[in-house]
Amino acid sequence: MLSAISGIQEKFTMTNRFSLDTEQNPLMRRKEELLNNGETFWDLSEANPARAHFPHIESLIAAAVRQDDFIAGISGYSPHPQGGISAREAISRYYAQAGIPIMPEDIFLTASTSEAYSFLFKLLTSPGEKVLSPSPGYPLVEMLSRMEAAEVEFYFLENPITAENIPYSMDMENLEDSLHPDTRGVVFINPNNPTGNYLSPMEAHRIAEILKERKIPAIVDEVFFDYILPEEKASAEEGRKILSMADGFILNGFSKMLLLPQIKMGWIALTGSEAWKTSVREPLSFLLDLYLSVSAPAMAMAPFLLENRRAFQNPMQERIRANLEWLSGMPVEVFPYRGGWNAIIRISSTLSMEDTEEFSLKLLDEKKVFLMPGYFFDIPHPGAFVVSLILPLEIFREAWKRIQLFTNR
Ligand SMILES: Cc1ncc(COP(=O)(O)O)c(C=O)c1O
Repeated sequence: MLSAISGIQEKFTMTNRFSLDTEQNPLMRRKEELLNNGETFWDLSEANPARAHFPHIESLIAAAVRQDDFIAGISGYSPHPQGGISAREAISRYYAQAGIPIMPEDIFLTASTSEAYSFLFKLLTSPGEKVLSPSPGYPLVEMLSRMEAAEVEFYFLENPITAENIPYSMDMENLEDSLHPDTRGVVFINPNNPTGNYLSPMEAHRIAEILKERKIPAIVDEVFFDYILPEEKASAEEGRKILSMADGFILNGFSKMLLLPQIKMGWIALTGSEAWKTSVREPLSFLLDLYLSVSAPAMAMAPFLLENRRAFQNPMQERIRANLEWLSGMPVEVFPYRGGWNAIIRISSTLSMEDTEEFSLKLLDEKKVFLMPGYFFDIPHPGAFVVSLILPLEIFREAWKRIQLFTNR
């Protein structure tokens, strides 16, 4: 089309922040083909609660829009760089209930947690400066930092000891060695996705010491914090409180906390010393004021949604537990799980990395089950896969029946 219009160049110059990878991974290409052809398949990588059959969500949203405050919040829209005060007060109450004092003036609303990351990379880095992120970890962090012309580097987690039920953990030496004079922030995902480990009080304490010494802020992504196993909660909460005293930021949002990615609401909360918070408030407000990206309906719903968060979360927590229990009865190795929406499993330790992808491709073609190879998240173990725990048990079971038929064939 373009080439038909004379005078318009077919190619144009654009940012070198990313190189478009035209060679799509064969497994993802196959999945896309199935989706485009409207074929049904069992997607064990499902991350969207809106596709995971949670009927309770609809009635809770309906209740949120029936609140008097909802219409008042929209009709009285008066933009503020940090977002509406009643939403920020509700978020402040959420932290107060966890024993973490965060004032509404230290909360900055964004359209999502991903957007919150982008704002922080804009705030903290000049082109080429570095942010550190965990590996294995959530791949989006790398893409988002590149889009802000920041350079992402990784610190590596200590591998789990499956036989002793010891999960992934921080390798403090590796973290320290990975810090450079131009490291402008360190990302911690608490609990990490997909490894499921949270920061223990001892780890949090040491991290706070290291970052204080180097004057580097912590960027703590807590999107899965409310999905930590109940038996691990006390320790996780203690670690969270310790880290919340470090100079830095906590990120969160409704997409995971409340199973509501469609509401488009996330935030940045400032933590640490008064001097640090004072230095950040103004430039961050300036940045957010350029976009004002949070919608009035999202902000108007926030107090009701947050107050009723357990009604959103309980069915998800029960489902995760049921799926984990089911998995533990399967002839697969389940890596130690502490929290989040994913588990790591190993079907066979004899598969090589290439075989792992080949396994997924054949499984998809022959049994219509999509299983994500662990190396998509930089999990270094061949034969490892990342399994979403958010599907209803009957769907989860059917997918596993198919996997068993495939492995026993
Ligand atoms: C660890 C982690 N952080 C952030 C996000 C993105 O959250 P949002 O939907 O609020 O952008 C995800 C999404 O899967 C995630 O796994």
